[in-house]
Amino acid sequence: MKKRVCVKDKEFELFLSEEEIKRAIGEIAFRIKRDLSGAHPLFVSILNGAFMFTAELMRHLDAPHDLVFARYSSYRGMETTGKVIEIMPVTTSIKGRTVILLEDIVDTGTTMQYVMEKLRQAGAEDIRLATLLFKPAALRCNLRPDYVGLEIPPVFIVGYGLDYNESGRTFKDIYRLVK
Ligand code: IMP
Ligand code: MG
Repeated sequence: MKKRVCVKDKEFELFLSEEEIKRAIGEIAFRIKRDLSGAHPLFVSILNGAFMFTAELMRHLDAPHDLVFARYSSYRGMETTGKVIEIMPVTTSIKGRTVILLEDIVDTGTTMQYVMEKLRQAGAEDIRLATLLFKPAALRCNLRPDYVGLEIPPVFIVGYGLDYNESGRTFKDIYRLVK
């Protein structure tokens, strides 16, 4: 694994190893299994960022569940725009279902607050949020993720699904911006 990487015009240094990330996902899987076995939940994976988290999490789950994808966007470059755009909504019926949102990272919380409200309006019975990463110091709304892989300081990161202007998404480890 590389200690430093360049993504576009920026330099990043190793922050979380693939091993640490996978261990955190295993723990989320354990808690979801403990809480929701028998509930036949519908996982809604938020593209693009949550694709690696989703794939790894699914390897741990065996009870019946369904998985769909949706896509929202709020980030440009290294900052949130504060406005959420729905690019690809959930098209399956979620009425009466136990829904578990899978997100790569909760930063200000704007995106997840918006998506959870949409799912509530669509009639989901129980909505839970599982996020691989959480920046509690950056939170700007009243949102509490139900399952958190790792809490991190408010630094800008890339890798394991997270991008900087669409680059850096496919690194297996996570890197933080070098100031
Ligand atoms: P929020 O709406 O401010 O919570 O932002 C959530 C979204 O912003 C995430 O789904 C990510 O796509 C993106 N994001 C937040 N922090 C980072 C980061 O450090 N690197 C890359 N993308 C990020
Ligand atoms: Mg995202």
